[in-house]
Amino acid sequence: MRVGLVGCGFIGTVHSYALRQLSRAGLIDAAVTATYDVDRARAEAAAAAHDAAVAMPTVDALAAAVDVVWVCTWTAAHGAAVHSAVAAGRPVFCEKPLAPSLAECEAVAADLRRVPHQVGLVLRYAPVFRAAGDLLRSGSYGAPLAAILRDDQYFPIQGMYGSTWRADVTKAGGGTLIEHSIHDVDVLTALFGEPVTVAARTACRFRHAGIEDVADVTLEYESGAIASLVSVWHQVTSRPSTRRLEIFCEDALLWSEDDHLGPLHVETGDGVEQLRGALPDWAGQLGVPDELTGPVAQYAQPAKAFLDALVRDGAAARGDPDVDVALAAHRVVDSAYRSAAAGGAPIVVVADGASRSR
Ligand SMILES: NC(=O)c1ccc[n+]([C@@H]2O[C@H](COP(=O)([O-])OP(=O)(O)OC[C@H]3O[C@@H](n4cnc5c(N)ncnc54)[C@H](O)[C@@H]3O)[C@@H](O)[C@H]2O)c1
Repeated sequence: MRVGLVGCGFIGTVHSYALRQLSRAGLIDAAVTATYDVDRARAEAAAAAHDAAVAMPTVDALAAAVDVVWVCTWTAAHGAAVHSAVAAGRPVFCEKPLAPSLAECEAVAADLRRVPHQVGLVLRYAPVFRAAGDLLRSGSYGAPLAAILRDDQYFPIQGMYGSTWRADVTKAGGGTLIEHSIHDVDVLTALFGEPVTVAARTACRFRHAGIEDVADVTLEYESGAIASLVSVWHQVTSRPSTRRLEIFCEDALLWSEDDHLGPLHVETGDGVEQLRGALPDWAGQLGVPDELTGPVAQYAQPAKAFLDALVRDGAAARGDPDVDVALAAHRVVDSAYRSAAAGGAPIVVVADGASRSR
């Protein structure tokens, strides 16, 4: 399969690298053959990383020349790129967030539903969160009571990000909550189901209009469990992006300070055990330096899952996660913003996309 990469910046380069290593190792029946970016030099640099890839003049030309399209532009440009790819009948991998606002996300989702697709909410693939979900569903530790998820990173308009659009609300749609913590909202949904109510406070301490850099969100679930999500963009540029999750169940505390392989610590009345997540058994074939195997696998695993599904099921393929999963996360984020605008009042989240003040 010929893969077309649209948007050749930070995450486009990460996907490009993961796809190249998968392809060279013979782990996928696909390779990047075309690239496009409004910044042509970036498209050319991305194409040069592949054996026979070409920088295309437009997204439509790219879509016509490939079998599947990877959309990695900044958030506000996802919709137009997805639209071009879908108009050409191409399956699409679309980065998260789908779009800056919930209404625009629904329009992107309507396009994506017409083709096999997958959304880049890759955190839900992390073995540590999958292990936590398996333990919760096993019921071995009683009902979940409360969760605390802290997510922090330096304000991502510097350092390895090398771009400034995350401080522009017209391109990003908001700050740390939609741009970064939509992953956290999605993981919490994978663990506890869709929340029933959402209440939030936000702040813009670095004064980029519409870009919250602190968000404190309380989510209530059908089971009665409550989660508290604190998401912060700070200026501690030495700190990588980190997360800490604690889940209290009736009979155990599960916690981790690593958002990929863990370990997941499980404390019960009998003591503490540690469960370390495993990489896919093919990860060692990626041909990357040892220290990069884990980070590359975070993107290679969902990419391979999508491409394998396309080879196996063709037009009937379903990516994981799909737009319904992504829209559920966007509804929560949108409810959080509306709660914050209403001074923190709880918002009832309604599964069909509507939501109202309590
Ligand atoms: N899933 C993840 O873990 C993850 C991680 C980082 C970023 N992202 C998401 O990926 C997207 C890109 O983020 P980034 O950090 O790579 O940004 P970036 O600024 O590094 O790259 C974006 C690229 O898109 C290009 N672009 C903009 N408009 C375009 C258009 N209409 N057509 C073609 N190219 C266009 C820009 O020139 C730039 O090269 C964002 O939506 C971001 O939220 C996801």
